[in-house]
Formats: sequence, C-alpha cells, structure tokens
Amino acid sequence: MSANLYRGISDLKGFSLRNCPSMDEPSGVLMCPPDHFQILSANNPYMARHVGAADREKAMKQWAELAAAFRAAGCPVSVIPPTPGLEDMVFAANSSLTGTRPDGEKVALISSMRHASRRRETEAFASWYEAHGYRVARTKSGGHETFEGSGDAVWHPGKRLIWGGHGFRTDPGMFEQVAETFKTPVIQLKLVNERFYHLDTCFCPLTPEAVLIYPSAFDAASLELILKIFPIVVTASESDAVSRMACNAAVWRSKTAVMQKGAGAASGHMRAMGLEVVEVDTSEFIKSGGSVYCMKQYLFG
Ligand code: ARG
Repeated sequence: MSANLYRGISDLKGFSLRNCPSMDEPSGVLMCPPDHFQILSANNPYMARHVGAADREKAMKQWAELAAAFRAAGCPVSVIPPTPGLEDMVFAANSSLTGTRPDGEKVALISSMRHASRRRETEAFASWYEAHGYRVARTKSGGHETFEGSGDAVWHPGKRLIWGGHGFRTDPGMFEQVAETFKTPVIQLKLVNERFYHLDTCFCPLTPEAVLIYPSAFDAASLELILKIFPIVVTASESDAVSRMACNAAVWRSKTAVMQKGAGAASGHMRAMGLEVVEVDTSEFIKSGGSVYCMKQYLFG
C-alpha cells in the first residue's frame, strides 16, 4: 500500500496533524444555477420519495439565496452556465475534486460518476476549469471504478490532508490517484449507511480541530480514525443529519457555517464553538439528497 493512504489507526504510525503541511484555504466557490433541476430517478434514498416533485421556481429562489449567503460571508461566487438536460448539475461538488499541489499548481481532478445520468456533467465542469487556469486531471478507472469528487473527498481545513469516503459512490481504489494527483495523504473512511451515501452527508470539518459527524454512517475503524485525528468531534442528531442534512454545511475559513435552517442542535453546537451560523433554506435540493456543501465547488488561487 502506498505510504500516503491511511485505512485504519494502525496505518497512522508516524502520522500527526501537526506534521501535515499547511494548505491554502479556498479562494471562493463555483455554483451552477438550477435552471434544469429535476428529480427523475431514485439514485439515492432521498430521491425515492420525490421523483417528479422538484419545484423549479422555488429551487431558483433558494439557490439565489444560497449564493447571496456565500457572498455575504465574504466568499466570492463564480457561476458556471447550466447545461440543458443535466438535472443534477446544480450539485457542483460532485463532478471534480479541486485543490492545489504543494508547488501551488491548481488542479481539478475530474470525477467518474456512478450514475449514467450524471456523466455528462463532468465535461462541462472540465471545460470551465480548463478556461480558468486549472490543470484538468482525469481518473484512470478503466470504466469500472467510480469517484464522485468533493462528495467523497473532503480537504482538512488548512492542512495538506484529504478525507476520502467510499462505499456507495466512490470506490476505495480511487484514492491512490487522489493522493498522487494532489501529492497529499488520504485518510479513508468507509460509509455503511445508504442514507449517507456521500462523505459530505455525514462528515463536516468545522475548524482544523473540530468536525461534525453522524456516527452511525461509518464503520468502527473509520470512527476510530476520526476520533484519533480530530480533538473535537461533535455528533449530529438523526433528525438534523437526515431531515436537514446538517453535516452538509459549508464552513467558510473556519468562521462562518452556511447550513440548512432548522438543525437546532447542530447549529447550537457550532455557535457554542464560536462559529457564526448562517441558515438558508435548501429544502428543494434536500429532496434530491443534497444541500449547501454539495451545491458548490471550492475554487483555489
Ligand atoms: N441527486 C444527486 C445524486 O444523487 C444529489 C447529489 C448530492 N451531492 C452530495 N454530495 N451529497 O447524485
């Protein structure tokens, strides 16, 4: 096994967060308006109850409010034009993993989506990244293994470290390419609860020291890894995690958490830690299994 992949605490010998080099914070986010948003098939348990039930007008309004919330938090928002026929393109996090390499080069590693209905999204995003100064890297999956970008690969705030989730949308074999592409170690976490099918549905770093998780989404070895690395682990209640997708919050610069409204316990913990919490309504997107975190991609440089 490659030296920069960690799958259990016994692999962590010699690894410490303190020794992880620091990593640039994102410079903004990329969002895609939901002009073509629809729920057409049950690709995840959320969608199963809502096929055909997306309200486009409401979705457009909620999306605009989310973009405004990011801007108000001091996070610049860039916009990629939506492609007709791509109903999930609004979930901009999934088509790639963006970041920088230790030499400062900006890279977008393009995903290899599990569902055929989402595969064309990746080309639209790849062209955007190419036009905006990123090196576009492709996964070598041989057409078999899948990787769903920032849905399953989450940067540790401010550190050269990536957390990688697998089990439903991403195959664990893909993390070797992630580690190699970004020259960054990856700690792998196994997802075991279908309701939490992407890492960003159950794992939300709040600061370099603190993370919000939904514990039963993980197997025991993965929980051990999380507890070993983060000194502060906050857990989300089932209703906050499922009905309000609280772990899909986006925390800007360890300062402002933008999240679905109504997750009272989770937002209370965040405020108690000194974070500013901005609540938005993403209910139309939760019907499709996504909220704040996956409605944007981080930009760098
Ligand atoms: N309907 C989308 C799908 O099933 C939702 C994706 C949400 N993304 C996320 N990272 N949670 O692929």
